[in-house]
Amino acid sequence: MKRVISILAFGLLLAPGVSAQRGSAPALPEGPGKQLVETACTTCHSTATITRAAGYSSAAEWRRVFSTMIELNDSQATTVASYLAEHFPEDTSRRPNLIAGDTEIEIIEWTVPTLGQRSRDPAEAPDGSIWWTGMWASLAGRLDPDTGLMEEFKLPVSARPHTIVPDTEGNIWYTGNSNGTVGKLDPRSGLVEEYKTEASDPHSATFHPNGNLYFTAQRSAMLGRLNPDTGEVDEIDTEPRPYGIQVAADGTVWIAYNGTNKIGAMHPDTMEVKYYDVPNERTRIRRLGIDSKGIVWFVNSTMGKIGRLDPATGDIKQWDSPSGPSSHPYALAVIDDVVWYNESGMRPDALVRFNPSTESFQSWEIPSGVGIVRNVWVTEEGNLLIHQSSSNQVGLVKIN
Ligand code: HEC
Repeated sequence: MKRVISILAFGLLLAPGVSAQRGSAPALPEGPGKQLVETACTTCHSTATITRAAGYSSAAEWRRVFSTMIELNDSQATTVASYLAEHFPEDTSRRPNLIAGDTEIEIIEWTVPTLGQRSRDPAEAPDGSIWWTGMWASLAGRLDPDTGLMEEFKLPVSARPHTIVPDTEGNIWYTGNSNGTVGKLDPRSGLVEEYKTEASDPHSATFHPNGNLYFTAQRSAMLGRLNPDTGEVDEIDTEPRPYGIQVAADGTVWIAYNGTNKIGAMHPDTMEVKYYDVPNERTRIRRLGIDSKGIVWFVNSTMGKIGRLDPATGDIKQWDSPSGPSSHPYALAVIDDVVWYNESGMRPDALVRFNPSTESFQSWEIPSGVGIVRNVWVTEEGNLLIHQSSSNQVGLVKIN
């Protein structure tokens, strides 16, 4: 059934409003600045995001961090920064254990226009432009990496897009994580077309060589397939919290699970899923990638490891990430059979390279450093696109 629910016209825009989730709010220590933090800093997230963070070494560092989220006047910013520096100094135990090595990389980062938008899930379009989604501002952005010019496109306010994927014609497909849709933005016209899904929260998505878009829906525990030609959507129930999704060269659609210790292999036509158990019930897997031999590489986020699954035998092998059990490996990609991922639990967020042939690690600080890389993308040239969802960055890692 074709379920196009609306066609909306939006022009290019300036800053849209950011509206995010509020959670429980832990009490803050008394002091000048407390009230300002309780009001100015809780429109997008609760104070828990501040109390659970790693803290920063100085008022200047605190100011650098929150200036990517909100613009305060100078006196307010000074008050808030000194209050936070006094009560939330840096927890140095969260610094990454960086490993030296021979690989040379260059990391370039751009701060995206709308503050506090939760920039994430960068992707490269066929014309070489870099796209990202600003989840909390319901927008998609385009960056010209040569000039640094950026443009933001408004998506339906209720969509809160989680992931975007360009198609071969230059349209940008997004998952409407808050309004149960998959949408298509035509950047030439600014027109948006929405396709209704049974799942309330489409999450991550990828195109398949068969032309269909496959997606996960984390809270709904569903997997979906959208045919862009007909608008037909097929969905199935699956194990808890399906998360990252990737297509292997043989057409198998691989799914990472963030609610159980499993990896799934979905047949693209029948949508039947074969499940592989990963040792330890505490294991939760955010993302995975596939190498040239069909080996599935994954992050074990809860156990601070990366792992390898051989689909032919079901054999699994895991390695401890350099920064240990709390390093929370998150995003992952395989480039030329080398594994790249990040340690999102560390501040600065660390980019890690794992060479399977020597079983050796090398790692770097991400310069802006405030985290979190939640998804990465491999460019045509074999470089890596990253982002920082807290500090509003989109980045390019040039791998020499
Ligand atoms: C316009 C929205 C917005 C406002 C207002 C805002 N933030 Fe944030 N903040 C974000 C986003 C987005 C994140 C990332 C959340 C995520 O990825 O889960 C974040 C994350 C954080 C983090 C975690 C950083 C880390 O280590 O990853 C801290 C600390 C923080 N905010 C402090 C503040 C302070 C202090 C203020 C007020 C001065 C503030 N925020 C106001 C959007 C906002």
